Amino acid sequence: MCGIVGYLGKKEKKEILLDGLQELEYRGYDSAGIAVIEGKKLNSFKAVGKLENLREKTKTFQTEGFGVSIGHTRWATHGKPTELNAHPHLGAYSYVVHNGIIENYQKLKKELQSEGVNFLSQTDTETIVHLFEKYHKQLNDPFAAFAQTIQRLEGAYATLLVSESAPDTIFFAKNGSPMLIGFDGDEIYFASSDTPIIGKAKEVYYLEDGEYGYAKSGTVKLYNNHGEKSFITQALSLDKILAQKEGYRFFMEKEIYEQSRVMGETMMGRVLDDRVDFEELDAAFFDGIHAIKICACGTSYHSALAASYLFERISKIRCNVEIASEFRYKEPLLTKDTLFITISQSGETADTLEALKMAKRAGLKSLSICNVDNSSIVRESDAAILTRAGIEKGVASTKAFATQTMVLWMLALHMGQHKQTVSQEVLNTEIAAMLQIPKALIVTDALHEKLHRLSKRYLHGHGFFFIGRDIFYPLALEGALKLKEISYLHAEGYPAGEMKHGPIALADSELFTVALMPKTMHYDKIKSNVEELSARDATILAISPEPFELADDFVQTAYDTHPMLEFFEMMVVTQLLALEISVRLGNDVDMPRNLAKSVTVE
Ligand code: AGP
Repeated sequence: MCGIVGYLGKKEKKEILLDGLQELEYRGYDSAGIAVIEGKKLNSFKAVGKLENLREKTKTFQTEGFGVSIGHTRWATHGKPTELNAHPHLGAYSYVVHNGIIENYQKLKKELQSEGVNFLSQTDTETIVHLFEKYHKQLNDPFAAFAQTIQRLEGAYATLLVSESAPDTIFFAKNGSPMLIGFDGDEIYFASSDTPIIGKAKEVYYLEDGEYGYAKSGTVKLYNNHGEKSFITQALSLDKILAQKEGYRFFMEKEIYEQSRVMGETMMGRVLDDRVDFEELDAAFFDGIHAIKICACGTSYHSALAASYLFERISKIRCNVEIASEFRYKEPLLTKDTLFITISQSGETADTLEALKMAKRAGLKSLSICNVDNSSIVRESDAAILTRAGIEKGVASTKAFATQTMVLWMLALHMGQHKQTVSQEVLNTEIAAMLQIPKALIVTDALHEKLHRLSKRYLHGHGFFFIGRDIFYPLALEGALKLKEISYLHAEGYPAGEMKHGPIALADSELFTVALMPKTMHYDKIKSNVEELSARDATILAISPEPFELADDFVQTAYDTHPMLEFFEMMVVTQLLALEISVRLGNDVDMPRNLAKSVTVE
């Protein structure tokens, strides 16, 4: 979730890098850095926080003549947003920037440490530069050393490396994370998306997975595992906003598609072979804790509500959830054996922050689950777990909800381990399900097309009920919130079993019911709830792995072995439904009326 730029040529490199990073700041901005080699001299600068801090730091630095340069803007995933953790990472005479995850970095780090390498940061990236220098010492050939380094990396990466051992060269590699090369005569640019090079390069080549090589003297040599490879460039688009959306029509759409990938980051280093671990929490963190209270707003409140089922069921701990703005004024009874959890994408929501301050004043231990490191809520909490969703631009939250729910599920298991409420057998089953979640989140063309077609039938009526039971009730609330936020149609989430206690009076053919009917959780119960609605002529859109005869419309899901797999798969369906209805209604999907991404007022 970071941004990369690189430049090889005669122009002023600092400005090219900083301007490029500015264009990528929308992807993440907790620290940034640049490294430049001119002649044989290597200069590097890093700064924590927004890019303006790096600008300030490099105020008096200027480049002249031919040189190579790389830059990076970071959104912390591994390790705090400190200068040491900021890219570029330094070896003895080389620098590297990297996006993605090196999945085997712990193994590589141990190997390098046993050979006497000293690591300065907590990042996975630093292994790349040390591996390069290790192989450079052995092979005495910088490109061979780089190629050998790439062979050792597992996971997703886009990386650039410069070294005093080859001061006129930028080495590059891409696998799973985006990277492109821009050309303008002899000038060569690198970037993790189009925006930094729009207006600079004229032609572009989008690297494919498994490609690597080097740029030198105005030319690029490209390789993959079959050897050297030719490539064809194409003209570069000129629309920056379009480029930021990476081909998607809306940020929300891009973020729905990203969920599968970011979930890998959320789990990385936490979901292990036989247990769930959070390095953020020390072993004694849960000592003396006998209850949990969660406070949050909006979407984050919905993930909290889903978690309350998981904490009680898995960790066997009392869990109570409150909307932060209600909690603040109800004069709540707080006891010190309660862990106070806040959930927030932004970490700046005023109501949630104030609720946290109240709990702290009452002496409660606090934990925040947040997407933004160093945010007010993270700083205020005793401990924080980052969701690692990457920056979310669409006002309607999607990947934040997915990653919050994932962290909470992991936390329930982690607590269960601690309190010995889960057997190893259960743990193994849950972990096996967790590892399938990225796959369950993939948006297939067929699914998106189906929701696009269905959406035209749901543009009118007098309202929507999203219904579900158990954890699918909070998902129903979230599905309804998504729809109302961006379609401006009235939608409510309801526990399916509660419809008969009042809302069923609204049922007629113009009442649209979106029924979440998981196979693994109370299927027969919800089926009879939906039958009651169907008997009153409500229009039913059923989402289930099990075909349902009474459905007017039916979206068949694939997973039917674990409730959480069903949960995440159905979540994507409801997100796409809201998106497609909003698009058909001509609404502003990313910036719906009357709303703001971060609500910092009461
Ligand atoms: C959801 O789509 C909204 N963006 C909103 O409900 C949001 O979840 C709420 O304002 C809380 O924000 P937070 O997670 O940043 O605290």
